[in-house]
Amino acid sequence: MLVLGFETSCDDTSVALVEDGRRLLANVTSSQDAIHARFGGVVPELASRNHLLKLPLVLDECLRQAGVGPEGVDGVAATYGPGLLGCLLVGLMAGKSFAWSRGLPFVGIDHLEAHLFAAVLEEPAPEPPFLGLLVSGGHTCLAVVDEDFSFRVLGATRDDAAGEVIDKVARVAGLGYPGGRIVEETARRGSAKAVKLPRAMLARDSLDFSFSGLKTAASQAWNRGDLRVEDLAASLQEAIVDVLVRKAVRGIRATGLRRLVLAGGVCANGRLRERILGEPALRGVSIFIPPPRLCTDNAAMVAALGSWRLARGERSPLNLNAQATISRRGD
Ligand code: KG4
Ligand code: ZN
Repeated sequence: MLVLGFETSCDDTSVALVEDGRRLLANVTSSQDAIHARFGGVVPELASRNHLLKLPLVLDECLRQAGVGPEGVDGVAATYGPGLLGCLLVGLMAGKSFAWSRGLPFVGIDHLEAHLFAAVLEEPAPEPPFLGLLVSGGHTCLAVVDEDFSFRVLGATRDDAAGEVIDKVARVAGLGYPGGRIVEETARRGSAKAVKLPRAMLARDSLDFSFSGLKTAASQAWNRGDLRVEDLAASLQEAIVDVLVRKAVRGIRATGLRRLVLAGGVCANGRLRERILGEPALRGVSIFIPPPRLCTDNAAMVAALGSWRLARGERSPLNLNAQATISRRGD
């Protein structure tokens, strides 16, 4: 079964084709980083307009790379939320239109669940149930993914997402946008001990996160004017990684699960990967970290989760609407 996936929830225009839920035939992503860089963040209206411009080209290129014509596609999946509404609408409408015009089954996909599904495109693939640590520009949470691939949030950030803090501090320090990769590269030449930054762990057993205090402290430390940018980057990265590793350990202890899956753009970070893989408290836990290109936003993860849902007979109506937020707490 060949499933075509569409992802346009933020500023990446991505289309992918996945065979039988596991084999990635093509994953084409057009990044808008250069467009938003001079604003220091994503401008929603520019992002949605550029999705409109790029999506037909990205779709053609995906089918060309896979060597498959539109008639070879068996099902369609598209992200319907959470994300920027105008952006979501472009990929969702394209997916629904493709499915409708060819009489194909269609399923709408939750962006966060898709992130946690990216790891199944690699060998070995994680078998649910597992604990997922999702860390991106818009979200930071710990979730249990059950046998039926349902998604239960155990803890989430109460304020800023980790990636958002990295991007904002990078902007304050003039490092450019998006900050993640630049902060990682800059941090290699700095000392993580140069400046003491807070690590909010909240209550002893809390699986929630809080990063806004760190954002303020790092910005203030920089604004004092006596810090090398390399040292700021290294200290910021280490503070975020410390919190993520400690919370992952807490999540594993709280659930008793023996599999941990990392997902989201921040999990492309080499220092986080190294610390998680070397963490003594996670010995005996199987850890799955997708390659960086599957950590950041991509349609491969959407097509993979879509394949699995379509194969189970799940369908979404063609009047499915985009949702900027999807409520999860308390469910
Ligand atoms: O998952 P993603 O592509 O988009 C969202 O759904 O938000 O994540 C983007 C975030 C940005 O904040 C970016 O700075 C961060 O992931 N990021 C990184 C790295 N690469 C991307 N953060 C730390 N280290 C990296 N190497
Ligand atoms: Zn994302």
